[in-house]
This record gives sequence, structure tokens and C-alpha cells, in this order.
Amino acid sequence: MAKISPETIRSMKSRGEIIAALTTYDYPMTRLLDEAGIPLLLVGDSLGMVLLGYPDTTHVTLEDMEHHVRAAARARPRALLAADLPAHSYDTPEQAVASARRLVAAGAEAVKAEGGRNILPQVRAIVEAGIPYLGHLGMLPQSVHQEGGYHVKGRTEEERLRLLADAEALARAGAFAVVLELVTPPVAAEITRLLPIPTIGIGSGPHCDGQILVTHDLLGLLPWVRLRHARPMVELGQTIIETARRWHQEIQTFRHPPHASSAS
Ligand code: KIV
Repeated sequence: MAKISPETIRSMKSRGEIIAALTTYDYPMTRLLDEAGIPLLLVGDSLGMVLLGYPDTTHVTLEDMEHHVRAAARARPRALLAADLPAHSYDTPEQAVASARRLVAAGAEAVKAEGGRNILPQVRAIVEAGIPYLGHLGMLPQSVHQEGGYHVKGRTEEERLRLLADAEALARAGAFAVVLELVTPPVAAEITRLLPIPTIGIGSGPHCDGQILVTHDLLGLLPWVRLRHARPMVELGQTIIETARRWHQEIQTFRHPPHASSAS
């Protein structure tokens, strides 16, 4: 089967194919999700919370991202492997290109950053450098401190117009798709209708061209986190706890042969 490219993802919209995307942060998960046929895998900066125990994504460094991109890329997935530019790694166009190149050198085939017209010079510079770009609009986790929390976007007319203009600007700048996070479903549907490139929603309703989830949320691997928009389809966290408990009990009855150490 042919390798998935940014153009493959882009063309899925015109073919009416729903795009499935999941996060991945390491080698085995990348192999498993690729085996499942997921066409777009993202080494998200959500790894800061999911793997590293940070309270939010703002603590993630470019070095963290490179480390996990390298691990994921070793699986050589058929899927397109995208990676997040972490907070403050794309404050200027020059820095954005340098950071994006580092992720590409680590094995990323596309990069994602958070923002619209406010980061357009950075987006244009990345695209001009020949690096495929995935947009991210709506609730922007890297701005959680400025925003005072994680808020749904598109509730007011002003927000709706801003989102539409940002999405169109990203498409014009050459993004091959755009993630819409926590955008009200009617506004996500409107953007999806108007945009020539695919929208990939998370908590933004069913009318996007695709859906993305944090894999650990899908698999119930973070039982201490429950999100309304990401109900686990299995409870692997519980399975891990029960399996470890069973093994713990089992080894209590395991015995070396009596007097084995004194036999000679
Ligand atoms: O970091 C991440 O995992 C993401 C997705 C949830 C869209 O940006």
C-alpha cells in the first residue's frame, strides 16, 4: 500500500473519505496504529501531559518533541507522521523554519502549530521551506494561560468571523489541512463547507472532514482524566491495573524449590 502524503490527506476531502487521525508518541504505538490503518498520526505536544506529567503543553520543549518524533519515526509508518511545534518554538518566521527543520530531521513529515492570521508569516515561511503544514484553530492549548483555561470557540459572532478568516488564511498560505479543537459544531460545519482543505475536528462535532483524538483518551489509559468529547472505547488503564494486581498475587504463591540455595 502506498505511503500517505499530505496530498493524500488533502484529497480525501474531495473523495468524501472521513479522515481518522490519532496521536502517537513512541515506536510501539506508531506500529500498532499504523497496522490499524490510521492515515494521519500526530506526535502531539499533548505528550507533555499524557507522558511527562506536566499540567499543560506549555512546558514541552523542542528537544522533547525531537525525542518522541525519532521514536515514532523508527516505526516507518505508512501513515503521514506529523509533529507539533511546541510553544515558543515558532515566535518568528526564522525560528519557525529552524524548529520545523529540526522536527523533519527527527523524522516528521509535516508540522503543526497553533494559530491563524497571528502566525501567518511563520506558516508561509514553513510552507516556502517545503515543509508540509497542518493548521490548528479553535481552542489553542499552548495559550491556556493567556486564555485562563480551555474554552469552546465560536460561540459569539466575533469568534465565528475570526475563525472563518483564520481558516481561510491558513488554506491560502498552503496548509494541507486544519485541526479544529473545541469549535462549536455549527461553526466547524461552516468552516468545513467553505474550506478547500480538510478540517479535522476534536470536540467540534460530527461535520468536520475528519476526527482526531489523543490515543490515550480513546484507549482509557488516563482513567484520572475524563473528557466529554473523548469517551474511551476501551478501559486499558483498568486492564493494566487488574493485570498487575493478578500478577502480584500470582507471584505470592510462586516458590523456588525448597532448600534450593543450601543444596550442593
Ligand atoms: O497535541 C495534541 O495532541 C493535539 C491534538 C489533540 C490535536 O494537538
